[in-house]
Amino acid sequence: MTEHKESGKAYGRLHRRMLEGKAAVFALVTTVVISIGAIVELVPMFTAGSLSWERASWVTPYSPLEVAGRDLYIREGCYLCHSQMIRPMRSEILRYGEWTRAAEYQYDRPFLLGSRRLGPDLQRVGGKYPDAWHYEHMRDPRATSPGSVMPPYPWLLERKIDPSDVAKSVRALQKLGTPYAGEITAETVEASLRGQGQEIVARLAQAGIEAEWDDEIVAMIAYLQRLGVDGKRHLAERAGATSGDEDGAAQAAGGGS
Ligand code: HEC
Repeated sequence: MTEHKESGKAYGRLHRRMLEGKAAVFALVTTVVISIGAIVELVPMFTAGSLSWERASWVTPYSPLEVAGRDLYIREGCYLCHSQMIRPMRSEILRYGEWTRAAEYQYDRPFLLGSRRLGPDLQRVGGKYPDAWHYEHMRDPRATSPGSVMPPYPWLLERKIDPSDVAKSVRALQKLGTPYAGEITAETVEASLRGQGQEIVARLAQAGIEAEWDDEIVAMIAYLQRLGVDGKRHLAERAGATSGDEDGAAQAAGGGS
């Protein structure tokens, strides 16, 4: 007991004599110790380089129409009620599908993870409903989902997207490293918007809905319909490739989820 106390005292004296008593030395040593943490944080940030990060080839950049829809999603604040991150938990996987892999966000600038879930997670909503469902749901959520507390967005059905605005967004993304090929002009963007928009317009027409390729709702549908689909396809293929044995094959054939 006493020995322990003695040595404690000796340590205290040593500590005071070598460090605390000498303000300059103490400040120097503290600075060195703290900067180790700073170096560990900062060096990888500068050496990795913002444009040379490893990309997952199975994630494709957003098309101009999807970029336009994403900008609307931000403008309308949809992320205030909807998250885009499926966590690796049983309840979430059963409800929403495969949990989100980090690479799936590689072209998301900014991230739209969301922190509240007044509505369901949307990270894999792509392909869950037909285009016409989204059209009706945006016009009046209670038409498709009785009792829904989601607000209606009827102006999306009337307002138009501006191809030159969309071109600016796409150019900004290209500058940040998203691999869009070639020069992006209002004309190339408009051709792409028109092409993809008309496919959606045709599907809506089959459901008896009249729309035009540059309606905001068409861009919103394009964005919602592509959420999570790259990941879903890739993870399904990978699961198929790794289950080469008979059991796996039988499961893949019989599972059909
Ligand atoms: C006040 C919160 C709130 C806001 C804001 C909101 N939503 Fe919703 N959303 C909900 C709720 C609640 C549901 C579930 C009931 C329903 O289907 O309407 C939902 C459902 C959805 C669904 C169907 C999801 C599924 O898996 O069934 C989509 C798609 C959707 N919202 C898109 C949007 C978009 C796009 C916006 C922005 C234009 C938006 N929401 C804004 C609350 C919200």
